[in-house]
Amino acid sequence: MSKEYQRHLIACDGDDCCKDGGGSELLKSAKKMLGKASKDVKCSKVSCLGQCKEGPVLLVYPDGVWYRCEDEKALKRIVEKHLIGGKVVKKQVLFRMPAPAPKS
Ligand code: FES
Repeated sequence: MSKEYQRHLIACDGDDCCKDGGGSELLKSAKKMLGKASKDVKCSKVSCLGQCKEGPVLLVYPDGVWYRCEDEKALKRIVEKHLIGGKVVKKQVLFRMPAPAPKS
């Protein structure tokens, strides 16, 4: 049986900006900060999200929130408030994806 997650954290580790900003290290730190909650959050990294000037960039799905995550303090807010607490961290938001339109 496949595992079911509550959320998906996607971290950019691309060479254009996010890698220099610590994208890969942020993902490792996020897994540690999640602790027991890590079983509910799938963590993945990608090579570029097209927002290089804003990096490092994190996404949280299914909420459709794109975050600017400049340091460990920002990461801690995103992990504790959003990934664990379920509340968007407005201070770090780059933008939010619109909810999908209902199928007709
Ligand atoms: S390298 Fe991260 S958004 Fe492009």
